[in-house]
Amino acid sequence: MTDLHKLFDGDKTMRAIRITQEHAVDVIETRVPALGAGEILVKPRACGICGTDLHILRHGFPGTCYPVTPGHEFAGHVVATGAGTKGVREGDFVAVDPNVVCGTCRWCKAGRPNLCIHLTPIGVGRAGAAAEYVAIPEKNAFVVREQIGAGVAALIEPLACAVHAVESAGPLRDRRVLVLGGGTMGMLIALASVRYGANDLTLADPVAAKRSIANSVGIANAVDPATLNGDKFDVVFEAAGAVPALKQALTLVEKTGTLVQVGVHDEDFTIPINPFKVYEQEITIVGSNSLADRFGAAVDLMPDLKDQAEKLIGEPFKIWDFAAAVESMAEGRTIKTQLVFD
Ligand SMILES: NC(=O)c1ccc[n+]([C@@H]2O[C@H](COP(=O)([O-])OP(=O)(O)OC[C@H]3O[C@@H](n4cnc5c(N)ncnc54)[C@H](O)[C@@H]3O)[C@@H](O)[C@H]2O)c1
Ligand SMILES: [Zn+2]
Ligand SMILES: [Zn+2]
Repeated sequence: MTDLHKLFDGDKTMRAIRITQEHAVDVIETRVPALGAGEILVKPRACGICGTDLHILRHGFPGTCYPVTPGHEFAGHVVATGAGTKGVREGDFVAVDPNVVCGTCRWCKAGRPNLCIHLTPIGVGRAGAAAEYVAIPEKNAFVVREQIGAGVAALIEPLACAVHAVESAGPLRDRRVLVLGGGTMGMLIALASVRYGANDLTLADPVAAKRSIANSVGIANAVDPATLNGDKFDVVFEAAGAVPALKQALTLVEKTGTLVQVGVHDEDFTIPINPFKVYEQEITIVGSNSLADRFGAAVDLMPDLKDQAEKLIGEPFKIWDFAAAVESMAEGRTIKTQLVFD
């Protein structure tokens, strides 16, 4: 058979990015992963870096299995299929739902696989896509048209998180919607909100460059959050992951309104809330964690958002320049930093 099949013989090696418990990044030579039953081997073409990767790198992130090869927002080609696989074929171009779940626990059965008690995300709890090859369960692969572009396909994962957040907010039509934060999450939440019926949407970010990018993808009403005080909104997405944004969000929710908590704060961080106001004004606070079972919905939605999604992606970095790519994120000039593979 093809050379690709020789990847199975157990002694082929590949290069991979590795993050150690000591928060060091290096490029290692390691075994091409052996495929378990129901698994396929993917050769990534584009892989995004997000806040989760920064947590894994800098402080640690719950569920991380160090040393870890990061990379959970990716798309690439199927180069080998393991025993018992049936739907996906070699050569298929796939976007990947990184959440590997048991499928049998209470939360999986309830359609909340993001809360699976055995959740092992690719790139966090098992080896990710910042490598020449990554092994994944076939059921996590979604075949997409290659013409959509590898970078856009790698944005399907964050879009799925945005779709979950938007669905968590309830109906959006004729409600005043505010998205706090104009990073990848805020932008995708804003774009998805419009597709889900929002007709009165404001995005707020203190950084002028982010507001310009928002305008360029069709989010006309992009403002500095400092100008919002006194306003009220029926739906507020806290998609900044910043304490000032959360504090402000709590002041901006209208009667019967909903605050959707998307931003990830420190595990032990707490903030006072006013229970009288929650009671009196019938306010809902809802958490939105990862993408639940919305990956397929994001696969279906992304072709409509392709042009906007492309504008969110910065000049890509070569995979082996992972550390430089992470450093560049601090500059905040682009929305999504991605790695590409030769
Ligand atoms: N719930 C989920 O499923 C999920 C998925 C991915 C990321 N996240 C989290 O969502 C948050 C945002 O992720 P991201 O990738 O977009 O990050 P990002 O850093 O790219 O974007 C954050 C944005 O918030 C802006 N910001 C800072 N302070 C603000 C304030 N006071 N008001 C409004 N905006 C403010 C920043 O200028 C920046 O543009 C992070 O906390 C991340 O960990 C959650
Ligand atoms: Zn991510
Ligand atoms: Zn489960």
